[in-house]
Amino acid sequence: MPVSQPREKTMNKTIKAHTALIVLSLIAGLAVVSVGITQEIGERVRSLGGGEVLDRLNAAPEIERQSVSDGGFGRAYRQQPPLIPHKITGYQISPANNRCMDCHDWPGHVKAKAPKVSETHYVDRLGKRLDKISGTRYFCQQCHVPQADAKPLVENDFLNSTQVK
Ligand code: HEC
Ligand code: HEC
Repeated sequence: MPVSQPREKTMNKTIKAHTALIVLSLIAGLAVVSVGITQEIGERVRSLGGGEVLDRLNAAPEIERQSVSDGGFGRAYRQQPPLIPHKITGYQISPANNRCMDCHDWPGHVKAKAPKVSETHYVDRLGKRLDKISGTRYFCQQCHVPQADAKPLVENDFLNSTQVK
């Protein structure tokens, strides 16, 4: 006589199979709905290029054009780290050498005709004045980023802190 499975076990199996079916059909339903929503949003959102279809890519922009010598960029608020007005490709910062400080440290900055890092950069986190760049300022790009002199793609009404009164 074949060993029949206890009734409880068979029932458990049936319940499991049904649950799996329900979950699967829920997932399928959700997928259909979300495809519908995505299509609808896709029809409403238009890219900056309008309805144009791109059939070729532009050449990569020239890195040189990132530079705007003399003057630099204005600051939007008093404590803003000034933006870097020149290209920084290849300027390495390692424990042994900080290429930025070749031009921005005192007294080398005079020869490089670069602005010296401000005195705040020679003060450590306990307020102690140092003779070399503070560890908290060592990685310049934590705070300073290069900025291209590019026109904004989208018009905006941003006002800097001196314009907001
Ligand atoms: C070869 C010399 C040289 C090196 C190396 C160099 N800079 Fe400069 N930097 C300059 C000169 C010169 C200026 C000012 C003239 C200009 O507008 O380009 C300047 C301007 C700046 C300014 C703008 C300051 C202001 O008040 O507007 C920042 C910020 C700056 N550099 C950060 C950096 C950082 C960060 C690095 C390293 C990733 C770096 N620089 C490496 C020469 C250098
Ligand atoms: C923790 C953020 C921070 C780091 C890191 C930092 N800076 Fe600055 N930097 C600032 C701020 C904020 C200012 C403007 C206020 C001031 O002068 O302290 C500034 C100002 C400057 C200026 C303009 C000085 C002036 O008198 O106009 C130069 C140049 C500069 N930083 C270069 C550097 C270089 C090079 C490094 C890396 C060795 C560096 N900074 C690291 C935040 C930082």
